Amino acid sequence: MIAGAPAAGKGTQCEKIVKKFGLVHISAGDLLRAEVSSGSEAGKKAESFMSQGYLVPNELVVEMVKNRLSQQDAQESGWLLDGYPRSAEQAEAIQEAGIRPDVFILIDVSDDELVERVTGRRLDPETNTIYHMKFKPPPDAIVHRLVQRSDDTEDKLRNRLATHHKNVEAVVGYYKDMLVEVNGQRSMDEVFAEIGGVLSAFTEDESPAQQR
Ligand code: AP5
Repeated sequence: MIAGAPAAGKGTQCEKIVKKFGLVHISAGDLLRAEVSSGSEAGKKAESFMSQGYLVPNELVVEMVKNRLSQQDAQESGWLLDGYPRSAEQAEAIQEAGIRPDVFILIDVSDDELVERVTGRRLDPETNTIYHMKFKPPPDAIVHRLVQRSDDTEDKLRNRLATHHKNVEAVVGYYKDMLVEVNGQRSMDEVFAEIGGVLSAFTEDESPAQQR
């Protein structure tokens, strides 16, 4: 599991983790955005919360994440869960279903830095690559097609941050024995060097079992 404040760099690190370790990336935010794009009733409901920077109600999120985790690719290759759980209730729900991670990574970044990260973020809808106008500038040739998320404003970030600060301690409480806190206020590669190191040590530990 990977957690952290909005725009702390979870998605950025997940891209790198997937490339190196081949896990299946399951992002609660991406699942919800797909539901919104589909135009479903659930998507319409979710959108009203997401556009304000509030958590979507559990009845729309919990089953969606549990279903995705149970799919064959995630079961076979292992999963990387991003943005879930975000409350004690969500942690409880997944615990009751017998789902526990091997490692819980929490990326720490100061609130001031998050404002700059969120307002400069741009997404490439064709490749799903995350860019930043200053910290990870996109190639000139694709700038015209980049999009900015509707919740990526300073105002909405304030709501998202308040929710994060209110809940993070309770969530972390469920995963104390597997918690790894990472200083996210370094370059993307430095952050990944630490996360990759943690996961490599873990997969090396696992390798004898995997070979059997
Ligand atoms: P979600 O999509 O999960 O958004 P979030 O948690 O707010 O996180 P972000 O995707 O904004 O940021 P990130 O940490 O992935 O950062 P990134 O790598 O892009 O959720 C959106 C909404 O959906 C929620 O507000 C809620 O409404 C709903 N939702 C989601 N999950 C839910 C749940 N479980 N329950 C209920 N509702 C839920 O990086 C950000 C920027 O910084 C990028 O531009 C990147 O290039 C740059 N950057 C990254 N790392 C660095 C670095 N080290 N140095 C400099 N720049 C960096």
